Amino acid sequence: MIKKQITDLKKEKNAIILAHYYTLPEVQDIADFVGDSLALAKQAATTNADIILFAGVHFMAETAKILSPQKKVLIPDLDAGCSLADSCPAEQLEVFLKDYPNYKVLSYINCSAKVKTLSDIIVTSGNALKVVNSLPENEKIVFTPDRNLGAYINKETGREMALWNGACHVHDQLTADEVFKLKEKHPNAKVLAHPECKATVLALADFVGSTAAMLQFAKNDPSPEFIVATETGILYEMQKQNPGKQFYVVNNPETCACNDCEYMKLNTLEKIYHALETESPEIILEDELIRKALAPIQKMLEF
Ligand code: 13P
Ligand code: SF4
Repeated sequence: MIKKQITDLKKEKNAIILAHYYTLPEVQDIADFVGDSLALAKQAATTNADIILFAGVHFMAETAKILSPQKKVLIPDLDAGCSLADSCPAEQLEVFLKDYPNYKVLSYINCSAKVKTLSDIIVTSGNALKVVNSLPENEKIVFTPDRNLGAYINKETGREMALWNGACHVHDQLTADEVFKLKEKHPNAKVLAHPECKATVLALADFVGSTAAMLQFAKNDPSPEFIVATETGILYEMQKQNPGKQFYVVNNPETCACNDCEYMKLNTLEKIYHALETESPEIILEDELIRKALAPIQKMLEF
């Protein structure tokens, strides 16, 4: 019933629903497009819809608004934040950057619009290595806000980027011990990990990549079983694409025994319906903020 109401409203208002792979299965089902941060940003930049309803977290909806300022961008719940974005307040970053006067500032897209205005280039987990490798070898770089993704890029590229000390609470809590335990039970399973995980977890991975890249790997690789170190929402699409394969998610039993991103899970069908009906909550940003935050995102999209 509610699914039909959402579809009708969407048509009536020429709205598009974009959803991240970490949202609830029923939300992914009603979305027009499900993707990782990079693909979602590209969709937001090119859609013909009048309204973008972003089932994801705040920085993603904000990025959609920056890329399509003439459109109305809705977020089902304004409390859908991101611990990683929150770990890098713009005012503190401004002070930090005073120690790095001639550095390029690369920021992971999981940051606020204000932090984007302090950055030269935005990257996602889907293109970070490519972007860093394209920069001259002697270029000095500060990477914000994720210390784990930053350390991973340093290791893979041989760079020595200065790192902001931020992390995502979902990925940072996963441990190598838990991966080992699953490995003992499923010795032939391949390990997939998101680069927001700690280096000790990434060291055990057969493949490290964004949500979309992990999905691609699971589909193309002949292995019948995988250990997955990321947020639980990805399992829905993984299982759908690979009905014959087994997926075991790495948990942290000391904390929540599941790695749900509570912010992503705030997107419910009821809230999506309400947002479409009332055309709120809406993402509103000042023109100047949009202008300044757009430049580093556009640089990324040029890749
Ligand atoms: P992706 O770039 O894989 O979409 O990751 C986004 C995110 O929030 C991971 O926690
Ligand atoms: Fe942010 Fe982590 Fe949630 Fe991704 S999983 S949206 S990085 S809190």
